Amino acid sequence: MSLTQADIKQAVIEAGSDHGEVFGFPEKADGLHLQQDPEEYSQFVHFMATEVPPAKLALDIGIASGGQTKFLRDYYRVDKTIVVDIGEHPKFPHWDRIKKTVKTEIVLELIEDSHKKSVREAIEGYAGQVDFTFIDGDHSYKGLKQDIDLAKTVTKKGAIYVLHDTLAVADCKKVFDELCADPDFELVRNFDRHFGISVWRYLAVRGPKRSWWSQIFG
Ligand SMILES: C[S@@+](CC[C@H](N)C(=O)[O-])C[C@H]1O[C@@H](n2cnc3c(N)ncnc32)[C@H](O)[C@@H]1O
Repeated sequence: MSLTQADIKQAVIEAGSDHGEVFGFPEKADGLHLQQDPEEYSQFVHFMATEVPPAKLALDIGIASGGQTKFLRDYYRVDKTIVVDIGEHPKFPHWDRIKKTVKTEIVLELIEDSHKKSVREAIEGYAGQVDFTFIDGDHSYKGLKQDIDLAKTVTKKGAIYVLHDTLAVADCKKVFDELCADPDFELVRNFDRHFGISVWRYLAVRGPKRSWWSQIFG
């Protein structure tokens, strides 16, 4: 029998939320602490599982408990993953437990502010290799733009970008609106029932930074 969205939604509810009242399904102490709307998120996961080719290398920015990082990979194959989180979320301590169950090889785990130069330097060796990124870290306009910019330094042409909260958070919605007009991005799907999970294809490729001299004189 084929996988249905209803099956995934049931699994989301069984995995447990971060906060019963905020997310509309019960929290479980030893669960995944998902910060998602079950209907919206299961639509997204079903889409990834059935319509998007598996990823070789992913970059997750902003994982909180890491429950989302785990849940998605139960349905959508991701061979290797780089994780970046500042480590300050109250549910972050669950990551130690949850990461042992994630179906991926975690090649790099950066518990740092994603905007720091050290993060950029730590991931630069993966330039042109990342084909999937899930961005759900700093939700300010400037912070999200910086995270997209960070992802651009390592993603390959055609990579899938997923941005969370592009409906519910005004600053993230502003970035969403800008990307709609950005020729480097194509909106593939928009799951906009509650928080907003937008799926994009990055059409450009960012080469190594060129000096002002080479930009002028080629
Ligand atoms: C909304 S939560 C992520 C929820 C998670 N993706 C999920 O779906 O369950 C945002 C996370 O990003 C982290 N964060 C916020 N600003 C950050 C920054 N500048 N660098 C790295 N992580 C950041 C927070 O500490 C938190 O863990």
